[in-house]
Amino acid sequence: MLPTPNLSHLTREDFALVYEPAEDSFILLDALEQDAELIRTCDPTITLEIGSGSGCVSAFIGQIIGARSVYICTDINADAARCTMTTGQVNKVALNPVITSLVEGLSPRLLGNVDLLVFNPPYVPTYEEEAARAQSDRTISGAWAGGAHGMSVTQELLRITPSLLSKEGYFYLVALRENNPTAIAHQAQSELGLACHVVLERRAGIEHLFVLRFSHLNHAVYNPGSQP
Ligand SMILES: C[S@@+](CC[C@H](N)C(=O)[O-])C[C@H]1O[C@@H](n2cnc3c(N)ncnc32)[C@H](O)[C@@H]1O
Repeated sequence: MLPTPNLSHLTREDFALVYEPAEDSFILLDALEQDAELIRTCDPTITLEIGSGSGCVSAFIGQIIGARSVYICTDINADAARCTMTTGQVNKVALNPVITSLVEGLSPRLLGNVDLLVFNPPYVPTYEEEAARAQSDRTISGAWAGGAHGMSVTQELLRITPSLLSKEGYFYLVALRENNPTAIAHQAQSELGLACHVVLERRAGIEHLFVLRFSHLNHAVYNPGSQP
């Protein structure tokens, strides 16, 4: 079992500004560990985490893949980028934080080159105005405010995922029951040309969490997991 990255350098003050890893982060770590062999077989050159927050997830991926991948970590929250940088240093994984929304400003270089894409998004259903405000304020509220069905930000990333992912790349996404994983899988297959499988699902308090794995349909060679 791989250890959870060391976050002891992050303070209470940091976690007032940046999302503190919780059950959603931990189910993502468990899913990535469960898929470690699959991830290693695609030999990721470019790993991209959207919304890296504390940097915990990317530092964990660093333990799975090692130094042969470049780790790019975007977040709209400047304090998250700062925490991601120090978490990388403390855990000896060279994380490259970029303060931006999704892949704005990076996408031309990344198109078709992302081997491992990861997003634990703001997935809580809220009014659209609340999600839009959180996105423009770029504060910690951007960690959870997800707009209609909790899918506003996720939908934006899903739309560009087919063009970002390399031919053999994988995308791991955390979702909530309220986000409707079955509809997400259907949309992925019919509109985006992506296969979608459930890697893990788990109840955590009032939340029913899923980790979904997407890959190009024509690459669905070996795709363990069930249909949502
Ligand atoms: C639920 S937190 C996850 C943090 C961390 N990855 C984890 O699992 O603990 C969601 C993160 O996404 C970031 N975020 C929200 N909207 C974003 C966007 N449009 N582009 C990049 N990051 C975004 C938030 O600032 C927050 O750090």
